[in-house]
Amino acid sequence: MELKIAVLAGDGIGPEIVGEARKVLDAVAARYGHTFIYKEAPVGAAAIDATGDPYPASTHAVCEESDVVLFGAIGDPKYDNDPKAKVRPEQGLLRMRKSLGLFANLRPLAVFDSLAERSPLKTELVRGADFVCVRELTGGMYFGRPQGRSEDGNTAYDTCVYTREEIERILHLAFKLARSRRKQLTVVDKANVIATSRLWRQIAKEMGPQYPDVQLDFMFVDNAAMKIIQCPTAFDVIVTENLFGDILTDEASVISGSLGMLPSASVGAKVALFEPIHGSYPQAAGKNIANPMATILSGAMLLEHVGLAKEGKAVRDAVNRAIEQGIVTEDIANKGEKAYSTTAVGDFVAAQI
Ligand code: IPM
Ligand code: MG
Repeated sequence: MELKIAVLAGDGIGPEIVGEARKVLDAVAARYGHTFIYKEAPVGAAAIDATGDPYPASTHAVCEESDVVLFGAIGDPKYDNDPKAKVRPEQGLLRMRKSLGLFANLRPLAVFDSLAERSPLKTELVRGADFVCVRELTGGMYFGRPQGRSEDGNTAYDTCVYTREEIERILHLAFKLARSRRKQLTVVDKANVIATSRLWRQIAKEMGPQYPDVQLDFMFVDNAAMKIIQCPTAFDVIVTENLFGDILTDEASVISGSLGMLPSASVGAKVALFEPIHGSYPQAAGKNIANPMATILSGAMLLEHVGLAKEGKAVRDAVNRAIEQGIVTEDIANKGEKAYSTTAVGDFVAAQI
C-alpha cells in the first residue's frame, strides 16, 4: 500500500515522540512491503514562531492532500501564563480539528497487564479495564459563540451549542463502535442541569431502537467521574460532549498507570488524525526521556484505520514485548529498575516488527 502521511510534530516532546513512531512505521513498511510517504508541516508554537499562525494555510493544505495525519503535541509555557496573548498554540489545534471535520475523538483505555501495578489505583480494581471514550470534538463550549468579555472586562461568557445533526453523527459512530465491542453504550451528560445535555439524551433515546443489540444507558458527568475511578471495568463505550470528554479522558488515563501510554484517533470527514492524548510536556523536551508509546500506539491505530490490521497488531505486539521486557521510559519503569531513553524504546519496538 502507498500511504501519504502528514507529520505535524508540533511542540515540546512532539518531535521526539513522533520521530520514534516514524521509526516503527518505517519498520512496518519494510517488513510488509508498503510505501509510506511523509510530509512534515509546522503546527502550534513552532508554527507561530515560524509564520505567526499556529495552523498556517500551508499546513492545512498538507493535511488535506494526505491520507492520514500523524500529530505530536502542541503547547508552550510561554503562552500558558499570558492571558493577554493574542495567538495561542491551542487555537491552531481547534482550527485544525474544525477545518478537517474531525468531529469524533476516540480515546481507548486499556490496562496493560504488566503495568496494572503502576496504576495509582488498586491493581484488582483496574485489571481488565478496557473501554473507549468517544469525545465529540468540534462542538460545544470550545466553539460556541458568543465567547468573550464585556467591555469593562469584568464579565466573561462562553456558549455551549449542539445541533441535532452534530449529536446524531457522533451517536451513530458510538453506537456502531459499541456494536463492534461488548455492546454497551453509556451517554455521559448533565441532563439534570443543562439544555444541550437534554437534547443529547432525547436524541440518544430516539436512536436506541435502531441499535436494539446495544445496551444504552445514561450517566451524569459528575457521577461518571467517580465511577471511572471506582469501577473502570464497568464501561465499554462512553460517548460525551467536547468539554466533558476532555476532562474525563485525562482522568481515565491514570487508570492505565501513565498518560504516556494512551493513543487516540480523530475521525470525521476525509482525513483522519492520530495523536497521543498527552500534551507537549515541555519539562522533558530535548531530554530523550519522554515515553513514545502513546504515539507509537497512535501509529497502530493509524494502520488499523487504513485497513492494515495485521500491521497494527504487529505494532501492538511489539509494544507489549517492550513492556514485558522492561524496555520502557522512566514514567513506567519499575522502581529500582533501569529506565530507557525515548530513542532506545523506539529502537527496540521497531526492531521487534
Ligand atoms: C486535548 C487537549 C486540548 C483540548 C487542548 C490542548 C486545547 O487538552 O486534546 O485533550 O482541550 O482539547
Ligand atoms: Mg485534554
